[in-house]
Amino acid sequence: MTPPVPPTVTTAAAMLRQAGAWRAAGRRVGLVATMGALHAGHAALLERARAECEAVVLSVFVNPRQFGPGEDLDAYPRTPEADLGLAAAAGVDVVFAPDGAEVYPEGFRTTVRVGALGDRLCGRTRPGHFDGVATVVCRLFGLVRPTRAYFGRKDYQQTVVIRRMVADLALEPEVVVCPTVREADGLALSSRNRYLAPDERRRARAVPDALAEGERRFAAGGTEPEGVLAAMGAVLGEGADRIDYVAACDPDTLEPVTRLAPGTVLLVAAWVGPARLIDNRVLA
Ligand code: PAJ
Repeated sequence: MTPPVPPTVTTAAAMLRQAGAWRAAGRRVGLVATMGALHAGHAALLERARAECEAVVLSVFVNPRQFGPGEDLDAYPRTPEADLGLAAAAGVDVVFAPDGAEVYPEGFRTTVRVGALGDRLCGRTRPGHFDGVATVVCRLFGLVRPTRAYFGRKDYQQTVVIRRMVADLALEPEVVVCPTVREADGLALSSRNRYLAPDERRRARAVPDALAEGERRFAAGGTEPEGVLAAMGAVLGEGADRIDYVAACDPDTLEPVTRLAPGTVLLVAAWVGPARLIDNRVLA
């Protein structure tokens, strides 16, 4: 039997009404915020939300404020029908798919600024990106009023920024970070993987391989970041066209560490063909 397709809510007012009704009924509400082009990584977040909450909202909104000039906002994959099928299979209660004017209505002025946390790593080449993410997530929290909000570890810096925002602004949702879902060769699933031609897809494997190299070196006793990061860069360079960064950071502040230790997070970002790929691994 095909699962029922969940209703789609498109306006802020209707979402607020639904959120209020759930709240009045004492339901726990789980939010999985996405930009669509859904894959098994998103499905895993929905599955976790379904297991833990009485009501599950999937938001689908390609947020212009987190794309820089010249980035892939217009090209970003949009697959609304397939997304609805995945939402149905995951047992989503409501798909919230607003247009730009519902998320940023006339007169909208406020920006959540995350400062230095958003300036390093991905923020260096994507200035303003994390302010855009924080602003839209904060607004989605206001509209959906989730008890829990689910995010993927794949976007490590994003999870740090959102946790920080929730703590600093005393927002209500509990932030739940879920493991990265990967392809058989280790490549993290990403909507942007669709940009990869077959040869690029093969070379993209260098991204998880570089992280595995870092883990291996640490397990073998390497604690000096320089040597470990250089070895990771060498592996990454075998497949990537351009390396954006290879870093070893504190898991909460994202500041570079001077020694690798359990809990240190290794992060990489690199271009393979037209796709900018990111991934990370927390050292055990
Ligand atoms: P998007 O890239 O669509 O990702 C939505 C959520 O799915 C994020 O929390 C992301 O970390 C998670 N995700 C993506 N790939 C994953 C994978 N392979 N395994 C596990 N989780 C994965 O991230 C965004 O959208 C946006 O920035 C958003 C938070 C929606 C704000 O606009």
